[in-house]
Amino acid sequence: MRFLDGHAPHYDLTYDDVFIVPNRSAVTSRFDVDMATSDGTGTTIPLVVANMTAIAGKRMAETVARRGGLVVLPQDVPLDVAAQTIGYVKARHLVAETPVTLSANDVMAHAQALIPKRSHGYAVVLDGDEPIGLVARTAPGHEVDLFTDLASAAEPMPVVLPADTDPRVVFDALVDANADLAVLTHESGALAGVLGRLGALRAGIYRPNVDASGRLRVAAAVGINGDVLGKARGLVNAGADLLVVDTAHGHQEKMLTALAAIADADLGVPLAAGNVVSARGTLDLIDAGANIVKVGVGPGAMCTTRMMTGVGRPQFSAVAECAAVAREHGAAVWADGGIRHPRDVALAVAAGASNAMVGSWFAGTYESPGDLRTDASGEYKVSFGMASKRAVAARSSADAAYDRARKALFEEGISSSRIRIDPERPGVEDLIDHICSGVRSTATYTGASTLQELHDEVVLGVQSAAGFAEGRPLPGGW
Ligand code: XMP
Repeated sequence: MRFLDGHAPHYDLTYDDVFIVPNRSAVTSRFDVDMATSDGTGTTIPLVVANMTAIAGKRMAETVARRGGLVVLPQDVPLDVAAQTIGYVKARHLVAETPVTLSANDVMAHAQALIPKRSHGYAVVLDGDEPIGLVARTAPGHEVDLFTDLASAAEPMPVVLPADTDPRVVFDALVDANADLAVLTHESGALAGVLGRLGALRAGIYRPNVDASGRLRVAAAVGINGDVLGKARGLVNAGADLLVVDTAHGHQEKMLTALAAIADADLGVPLAAGNVVSARGTLDLIDAGANIVKVGVGPGAMCTTRMMTGVGRPQFSAVAECAAVAREHGAAVWADGGIRHPRDVALAVAAGASNAMVGSWFAGTYESPGDLRTDASGEYKVSFGMASKRAVAARSSADAAYDRARKALFEEGISSSRIRIDPERPGVEDLIDHICSGVRSTATYTGASTLQELHDEVVLGVQSAAGFAEGRPLPGGW
């Protein structure tokens, strides 16, 4: 990474402050760019989903890992629930998506309530474990009898294929049948999953993030209070592939003690820890046993830390400084927070991050855990910060009323925010396509065929607010 005039300015930079200068390039196709990382996460695209309750659940974990990313389950999830989620993710098919399944006795109301939990827009009706029909999501304004049982409401399945069918063959079969969704079955006839046209296309573009046994990977977070080592051990025993030791102020003694205790236990998985924004903080976390340092204080969409405290640091410079130090010590950094455009992921990688951590942007997708709601402006989901009053109340629900009331006085996050479902990109995979298309293209503009080369080769400039504004399209025209 270098700046156009040879040196970075003497002040700190945000993603918006920076632009990338095109280099002479021999990379002709975006598909020639390998986006795999080498930080021990196994990610084949540089995306990790933040350990936030409104974002990182089992559907998100399954879907993102299938496309090569990694989801970190939040620290507030009780161990038994986290273990169940990890087991669920590990049991998922690498190609076929997991549909909503219902029985013939269920009613349409139930189906219509559940179908929006998936992007493909269908539920599969089962007899035992065998698929017998499909129910589609009804279009807004379309009248449907919500009390009809699914035995009568289910439609025939236009394409049924064996689970190991080449995704391209599935795609062609869907085109031939003019159908949206293929049902994939095991030899026994039991349902294996479903695949739409986009899913079949994506299966040929992305590589799932898999563990040594070929199962999807998932990570889990622990805090720094209570029996941290016990929880960490429990999560690893349940199959977590990576642990994140997480607290808002990662450069504190309690964090270093908790992290060192987990590192000393040698649980056999990579350890990420944070959050910090300085070289000193990065070094201390690496010394305490972190393989990956999570960088970012206050850039997140749900964060009020900078406004409440004045503490934080513009994210591009924080990532660049921490990544440089981490690399010298054989460690990596994740750029955590403030990712709002595909360019931000490209700039995080340019600054030296192995992965960008995304939270709120992915809250507004069908795969996030919240229920889909609708208002006059369209569909949305509710998100909240992990240091918000709402999250703190949930975390301290077992405390005495007095202690809960005391904790509620301290909040550094937004408790309720409507995150719109973008009708153009309602599913998390649509956002992943959008981001990856941008980052692949950044690599070809810089002449890089890997993310390491992108970091090594990138030439950056600093722009004014007008420079940034100039780059924004005008989709509405004049
Ligand atoms: P985005 O911008 O993707 O950022 O939503 C995700 C990151 O934001 C952090 N986070 C918080 N920071 N108060 C904060 O100051 C909060 O309530 C809060 N909740 C999440 C966290 O690092 C996450 O990964």
